[in-house]
Amino acid sequence: MADELKRGLEGVLVAESDLSYVDGEVGKLVYRGYDIEDLARGATYEEVLYLLWHGSLPNAAELDSFAADLAAEREVNDDVIETVRALADAGERPMAALRTATSMLSAYDPDTGDEDGDAGEATLRQGRRITAKIPTVLAAFERVRQGEEPVAPDPDLSHAGNFLYMLTGTEPDAVSEETFDMALTLHADHGLNASTFTAMVIGSTMADVYSGVTGGIGALSGPLHGGANQDVMEVLHEIDASAKDPVQWVKDRQDDGGRIPGFGHRVYKVKDPRAKILEEKLRDLAESSGDTKWLDYTTAIEEYLTDQGLVEKGIAPNVDFYSGSVYDSLGIPLDMYTPIFAMSRVGGWIAHVAEYQEDNRLIRPRARYTGPEDAEFVPIDER
Ligand code: CMC
Repeated sequence: MADELKRGLEGVLVAESDLSYVDGEVGKLVYRGYDIEDLARGATYEEVLYLLWHGSLPNAAELDSFAADLAAEREVNDDVIETVRALADAGERPMAALRTATSMLSAYDPDTGDEDGDAGEATLRQGRRITAKIPTVLAAFERVRQGEEPVAPDPDLSHAGNFLYMLTGTEPDAVSEETFDMALTLHADHGLNASTFTAMVIGSTMADVYSGVTGGIGALSGPLHGGANQDVMEVLHEIDASAKDPVQWVKDRQDDGGRIPGFGHRVYKVKDPRAKILEEKLRDLAESSGDTKWLDYTTAIEEYLTDQGLVEKGIAPNVDFYSGSVYDSLGIPLDMYTPIFAMSRVGGWIAHVAEYQEDNRLIRPRARYTGPEDAEFVPIDER
């Protein structure tokens, strides 16, 4: 029915897309037909970017050239680094700093202003630059905050490996690089989630892709979306500091009427497939390091909520329930978790903007007006 109100656009179809499909009833996620589990275990983030942006998995030569082109774009202008320093000095939050710096990157993009004509190609060229530079911005921000100098990108390292290198100043070991790369793949795309839709709405005005990505970062920063991974880790730290039993913490939160971060999803009614893969990864990492604390806490919480019937009701663990613990085991600071989500999801934002613009239609819904209709205007000096 044309006038039916769908709050939160729940279940509303607004576009056709070949990019990713989420079956929330069975817990399945595919990127262009490939199961997320196969991609997470068998493909690198660069392969996934190629798949999303160019429609098929690359062969070895295509991947080499694509990865080299991406790596060649990692450097950012010194002025951007100076802005990053100013933002860090001002105590800006990482997602807000990323939003500001990403917007600034467009000033140095040779394609900006060339959107007419070859919009799709320009979007992908600009998108490649944004995707390559976001890790540089994030790592520089974190290092400056810690009183360290930024580390220049190394074009010989993978996207995942180079980020960890720029963050710590040391080349990561193979397990850390592989784990981080897997996390990037798992977060790269997810249908029309709030941040992707934000980027698409902006893209539908034929604005440049920097505007879409900047908007996407803003949408992702909220606690109902990308911010939940940090919330989960804060909860685990809180449990640890209070020496409270994790289950008791959940009971207290429920008594206060609060939500459990990392549980529930607009689309998934069963456990998120990405959560399953990250849980397994966390188990491997915990077993090899011998430190099982976060694994024990998360397992206890999940078991309790399962016994309570919450999971059966469709409020099951989502990707954020496990990602924080995995990042913690890689030594990544807590408030960088959501920016890392952005560093990965930018691939999906760009793919959706490029796809939508190929057959663009301005996105412009409407609201049912519930305000007064015949208010009598009174000039200001008579009010
Ligand atoms: N803990 C306890 N109860 C919950 C939770 C939760 N985490 N999530 C949903 N519920 C309950 C909610 O109280 C409501 O119950 P009732 O019908 O009795 O009022 C019912 O489930 C439906 O909730 P809703 O808010 O209408 O559902 P939604 O589809 O709008 O919410 C959500 C989706 C992700 C916003 C929500 O589940 C939530 O707030 N989860 C916690 C935050 C979180 O983990 N977010 C990450 C999402 S996945 C990664 C991403 O997309 O960025």
